[in-house]
Amino acid sequence: MMYPFQRNRRLRGSATIRSLVRETSLSPDDFLVPLFVVEGKGIKEGIPSMPGYFRLSLDELEKEAKNLWNMGLKAVLLFVKVPENLKDNSGKEAINPNGLMQLAIKKVKDCCPDMLVMTDVALDPYSVYGHDGIVENGRILNDETVEVLAEMSVSHAIAGADFVAPSDMMDGRILMIREALEEEGLTQTGIMSYSAKYASAFYGPFRDALDSAPVNKAHVPKDKKSYQMDPANRLEALREVHMDIEEGADIIMVKPGLCYLDIVRDIRNEVDVPLAVYQVSGEYAMLKAAVEKGWLEHDAVMLEQLTAIKRAGANMIASYFAKDAVRLLG
Ligand code: PBG
Repeated sequence: MMYPFQRNRRLRGSATIRSLVRETSLSPDDFLVPLFVVEGKGIKEGIPSMPGYFRLSLDELEKEAKNLWNMGLKAVLLFVKVPENLKDNSGKEAINPNGLMQLAIKKVKDCCPDMLVMTDVALDPYSVYGHDGIVENGRILNDETVEVLAEMSVSHAIAGADFVAPSDMMDGRILMIREALEEEGLTQTGIMSYSAKYASAFYGPFRDALDSAPVNKAHVPKDKKSYQMDPANRLEALREVHMDIEEGADIIMVKPGLCYLDIVRDIRNEVDVPLAVYQVSGEYAMLKAAVEKGWLEHDAVMLEQLTAIKRAGANMIASYFAKDAVRLLG
């Protein structure tokens, strides 16, 4: 063969040819938008460790939902910041039909009926100890917690949630939630399971946003390593995914994003269920901080990261950058 017979640069020579051979592209359809809801009125509070991101009261949530819808963003993932006086060790407030989450679901559905509403199902925002389950004698109880998560899911579905999204990592919760929904006739409510959720150090800013970090008390585990996955493990992610699918998950998720793209690809190659990736708060904060320092270019780095997540095999991405990205996609 004469040198150089094949020149790969022919396919990179102009923006036009690059656009024709591009394998991965982003669109508004790819995104789930996480939203933080607080009690009160007229509140849009900045979160210091998440520049450009806000906690919203219900009236501001309505404005934001309409705004997102007009931008072509069609799915939200709701989280609530629960006042201290409503927190306990049982998750009682989580199943209050007039609780903040339930009101937030109704608010979004009222103003944007076609917006897909997904809801966080886990006890940490409701827990005096900042854990995703009921704490007893220094342990996070599994089966007792799962019962509350199932009730919580039913309560969200009754309020109008399209999908419940359990982020707690208790064993067996997908099956119990599916059974509870079916028993109530809520057959159309989907489950997006955080299947491979790692005990990551990237969740810090999110815990600031919701004031939900594990508390520093004797007999309360300081971290979530007894239920979230060890970042060193890969095969275990597949085991979690297979079990969740068997138990009835409609969508599975890997979280966090960038550090776990090998896991995303493994799962994408192995199962045919839609796969979501959560690009988490710490990933957002890192880029915002570097940009503030003038060390990285915001838009280019953001798009590169989101493209990498999609290229790895994500069918949808939960990202705090969703609006920034969609503005650029034009
Ligand atoms: C807890 C939950 C967390 C996140 C989503 N749900 C934090 C945690 O597990 O401690 C993190 C999301 C983010 O960092 O953006 N159920």
